[in-house]
Amino acid sequence: MAGRVDALYFFLVGLAAFFSLLIAGLIVYYAIRFKRKAPDSVGARIHGGLILEITWTVIPFLITMVIFVWGAVVFFAMSRPPDETLNIYVVGKQWMWKFQHLDGQREINELHVPVGRPVKLIMTSEDVIHDLFVPAFRIKADVIPGRYSHIWFEPTVAGRYHLFCAEYCGTRHSGMIGSVVVMEPEDYQAWLSGGVQEGSLASAGEKLFSDLACNTCHRPDAQGRGPVLHNLFGQSQVLLNGERVVVDEAYIRESILRPAAKITAGFQPVMPTFQGLVSEEGLLELIEYVKSLKVDVPAPVRPDTGGPKPGEATPARGSEAKK
Ligand code: CUA
Repeated sequence: MAGRVDALYFFLVGLAAFFSLLIAGLIVYYAIRFKRKAPDSVGARIHGGLILEITWTVIPFLITMVIFVWGAVVFFAMSRPPDETLNIYVVGKQWMWKFQHLDGQREINELHVPVGRPVKLIMTSEDVIHDLFVPAFRIKADVIPGRYSHIWFEPTVAGRYHLFCAEYCGTRHSGMIGSVVVMEPEDYQAWLSGGVQEGSLASAGEKLFSDLACNTCHRPDAQGRGPVLHNLFGQSQVLLNGERVVVDEAYIRESILRPAAKITAGFQPVMPTFQGLVSEEGLLELIEYVKSLKVDVPAPVRPDTGGPKPGEATPARGSEAKK
């Protein structure tokens, strides 16, 4: 994306430079050319000039349309990640960046990613507004408490790149820095397998799901007091008031923290709030767990949490379902 952003940027700089020089040059030229020669001389009266007026309206209009269309194309490309991305969760807090890989690796102020794969960051904040900025990738997005914001990038060259917080967030804002380490795919695989094995994010979510007793109401067999969560993520859901919502990260988060906000049609608002009981990381784990709930694909099962739950598909594959 950097090349495309730069091309637009340099076009704007070039355009501004061209018109600045043109206008400043003409001012100087006309000042000399039409200098008053005699003390009592008066300039000719001119009324209107249709061709001139149309010209100075149409040309700037066309130029601004070029800027608008070009800018919009780049903006859409930046804001729409490809379908297949490597998803990484980011939690900002005063004053550090926490990164969570789906396989369970956690990092602070350092993010390891492979070359050549689109990476999507799903970001939120634990306290105030931060802003993740990687100048080399030309990406920058606010990280906002209570919301999930997304940005994506595709690293093309291995190396270490600076990472900044670009929103004043308190005393040590300037120290809220880190780096993105882009690695060749094989080095990345080695790095992934070298870390502490904490289990995948989804399996941590599964454990939390039963620790919080969510599974007593959200049962996979449609007999519970809450909606079935299998195959739910990404679907559109009808609410009690007839509206529709798409089940995304933000909706799951809201349903955990403020369950009464959007009740699924056919259910009672009986779920208690989990505000204050689940950390931001816990929410991410629960979200990943809900995402992993598919009927056709066995849900990830953690060896140390016992067997599968009633009604849940028995894992067919022996190894941890990594997708
Ligand atoms: Cu976080 Cu500035």
